[in-house]
Amino acid sequence: MASTHITKYICTECGHTTTTKTGKCPFCNSWGTLEPAEDTPKPARKSPASRAKVISALEVRAPERLSTGINELDRVLGGGLVPGGVALIGGQPGIGKSTLLLQAAGSVARNYGVPVLYISGEESEAQVALRASRINTASEKLYLYSGSELDEALSSLDGNNFAFFVLDSVQAMTADSNSGWPGSINQVREVAQRVIDAARAKNIPAVLIGHITKDGKLAGPMILEHMVDTVLNFSGDNYSSYRMLRAVKNRYGSTDELGIFEMREDGLHPVTDKSGLYWNRDDVSVPGVAMTIALEGSTPLAAEIQTLAARTVFPYPRRTSRGIELNRFQLLTAVIDRRCSIATGSHDLYINVAGGLTLQDPSADLPACAAIASALKNAPLQPGTCWLGEVGLAGEIRPVSRIDLRLKEAARLGFHSAVVSSREKVRFDGIKIIPVSHIDEALAGLLLK
Ligand code: TYD
Ligand code: MG
Repeated sequence: MASTHITKYICTECGHTTTTKTGKCPFCNSWGTLEPAEDTPKPARKSPASRAKVISALEVRAPERLSTGINELDRVLGGGLVPGGVALIGGQPGIGKSTLLLQAAGSVARNYGVPVLYISGEESEAQVALRASRINTASEKLYLYSGSELDEALSSLDGNNFAFFVLDSVQAMTADSNSGWPGSINQVREVAQRVIDAARAKNIPAVLIGHITKDGKLAGPMILEHMVDTVLNFSGDNYSSYRMLRAVKNRYGSTDELGIFEMREDGLHPVTDKSGLYWNRDDVSVPGVAMTIALEGSTPLAAEIQTLAARTVFPYPRRTSRGIELNRFQLLTAVIDRRCSIATGSHDLYINVAGGLTLQDPSADLPACAAIASALKNAPLQPGTCWLGEVGLAGEIRPVSRIDLRLKEAARLGFHSAVVSSREKVRFDGIKIIPVSHIDEALAGLLLK
């Protein structure tokens, strides 16, 4: 019987394959994303050469790192670029991906005196050269390939002994003229695989720049994120010039570091005093305002929690929150009501973390409770004090992670005392510690009448 060819369809959003073309992907429910999939030949079966080995008998070597010369980027990468490793950085258009990587490429070329290749599939030579001179990163060792043919681009890697390369962007390159438009699922997968192979073969690091979809996911097959070693997310909003860099996946380091940059006329600048971003230094002795030091990875950030209490005109009071999860805010309000005997039912309560910061760290419980109580009592909290603690349903105050690091930052910023759990083992003596075990006790002495 002659074999019939069945057309397969693949979802450009999630990579799901199906044999029926439907308007909606049955797996991820995206509309209009199913495209005919080319049959990719199965790789030839390899002979079973490798055998399982005892893990403790294997040689352990920390990977050597290539510093990008940009501290914030190195830290998020886990200490720098890893030779043979591939990182993928995603972010909205215009956020500064090309600028960041051009700066990194330029500074590797300058600091190490080694050739670096920047492949731009999106911008012309003139555009990239203009940007390089604007951000003052042009160097004799920085090479540019502008064009969208991947083969040609990667063949420029031969010969010059390049030490690092950047590909801008994975969606703009064509790997194989038979696999559809640039950016289609097959093209993206092929481009990424060829770049990974090239980086491994030459044992040099590579960074891929990727576009994201409107809901913030990297455009292209989901498998893209599995293929690379590190996935970074570059984000920010249209209202500020600050940009955040985070690792979403990192085979060579932790994923909880945060890098902050400021976009200026001459490119991206690392922000060193991160606490200053979210803290208005003057305005602290107002009722409803409490200060804390939150942690983003290993970066301490001063945060100002503000609460407003207004007599309600509705049958039941409103609770609105920004920067703290609403359920947690409601729970903390209930703790204040029951454990501190401060009536909350007659007031609408609004909570906000200044500067647009979102606090997920449980250490924000205690400052949030202090702010709520202070707003309801219309009495400011003792100035110059920061609050660090998790609050349980019984009103007990629990220790937080890395207290010494937080206290050090609080002292650096000029706080003179810190309210912490009495179970906290503190080794830092640069600040006055006020140990408390219960929320009631915490508020008793610290609300100004
Ligand atoms: P870009 O790096 O092109 O973003 P992406 O590659 O993520 O799309 O950054 C573009 C924006 O950054 C552009 O709107 C202008 C701004 N910008 C500056 O403010 N200063 C600069 O020095 C540069 C190069 C760009
Ligand atoms: Mg770009």
